[in-house]
Amino acid sequence: MNWRQAVAAGVLAVGCAQAVAAPPSPRPGSGEELTGTQCVACHTADYIVMNSVFLTSAQWQAEVSRMRTVFGASMDDSTAAAIAAYLAAHYAVAAAP
Ligand code: HEC
Repeated sequence: MNWRQAVAAGVLAVGCAQAVAAPPSPRPGSGEELTGTQCVACHTADYIVMNSVFLTSAQWQAEVSRMRTVFGASMDDSTAAAIAAYLAAHYAVAAAP
């Protein structure tokens, strides 16, 4: 590796480190704010982003219920419904045929 390649590799490494360190920015949509306030009390929003690669909208619905019933996330039904709808619209994969 010559020095030019070394410098380029260093720049890439720094770029990657920043990409990993940056918090995920929420996908804009109705319910975004509620999700941002209700779903980051116990863990970061990374959990939503990580799970967005395989949860369907029905599974998001179940996930929000699970946070309430199993882990004690306290919110009213309409808040939970708005969050589930937001996640279903912006963070869900298509259901398997
Ligand atoms: C009262 C605390 C609390 C709140 C509030 C909360 N969670 Fe969780 N969540 C947890 C715990 C505890 C886990 C399991 C952590 C672990 O396994 O490391 C978890 C895990 C998850 C996971 C990973 C999959 C799983 O089921 O383990 C997702 C996705 C998730 N939460 C989404 C949400 C969403 C969406 C909201 C807002 C509706 C929310 N959480 C609010 C406590 C909470």
